[in-house]
Amino acid sequence: MTRTGSPTPTARAADLLDPARCRTVEAHRDGYLDTLGATEPPILTFAQRLMRTTIYSTGYQLLRPSVYRLLAGAIGSNGDAERARITGLLRLEPGDTMLDIGCGPGNFTGWFGSQTFPGGLAVGVDASHQMLHRAVADNSGPAVAYVRGDAENLPFADGIADAVSCLAALYLINKPFDAIEEIYRVLKPGGRIVILTSLAPKGIPVGPLEKVSGITMFGRDAITDGLRNAGFIEIALQTGGLAQTVSAVKPTR
Ligand SMILES: C[S@@+](CC[C@H](N)C(=O)[O-])C[C@H]1O[C@@H](n2cnc3c(N)ncnc32)[C@H](O)[C@@H]1O
Repeated sequence: MTRTGSPTPTARAADLLDPARCRTVEAHRDGYLDTLGATEPPILTFAQRLMRTTIYSTGYQLLRPSVYRLLAGAIGSNGDAERARITGLLRLEPGDTMLDIGCGPGNFTGWFGSQTFPGGLAVGVDASHQMLHRAVADNSGPAVAYVRGDAENLPFADGIADAVSCLAALYLINKPFDAIEEIYRVLKPGGRIVILTSLAPKGIPVGPLEKVSGITMFGRDAITDGLRNAGFIEIALQTGGLAQTVSAVKPTR
């Protein structure tokens, strides 16, 4: 976080924070900013616990493409085509400031950084030390920074982001619609959001699946309605298998 010469990506991420919304602001020895300190979002499910283990965070990047291809068909894997699809929906451009909420090991964040460079910044946000350790090690770059924070209470000031992604994470967040409201708050007017999350299969009760997996299965209208209620416009939905991608825009006024 040196302040001489051009600021590091981490120093630029620190400038986006609202200190009143941070429990602490510490430069973690692994290379990310920690705004949670000893506190963390409660772990209520097995899936949430898994996200905070070294073994899962280490294997995640290998497993994710095949798991998503299996569950979601064409959409969802983190191959080049999927990265291009999400980047297109986010309308990312060099110079943009973007947040990747629930970034895990940064498997999309590093790419987003390459799309916002030069002049922009991609900030991966996650609650898990284990995931952020991998993110810094595997997916850093000249326009990439990582922040440990809670999606339900984002540590950023209002209106700092041109775009926000929340990929394969909303179904793990205890209060997903609080997270959507927070994303709305931190977006600039005209800012874009893309959510990739679960889609409950039609006509099949999802309760038992949710109970076993610890993953919320969202209905077809749940996310579009949530975005509309938060104030978003230009809401568009794509579905594939057990996944849905929803994009929207914060009104300019
Ligand atoms: C399955 S990973 C997704 C990683 C990546 N975005 C992708 O598309 O592959 C979901 C991440 O969401 C994070 N997460 C869950 N609840 C969170 C919360 N309340 N605040 C911040 N991160 C959270 C988990 O720690 C986990 O790393």
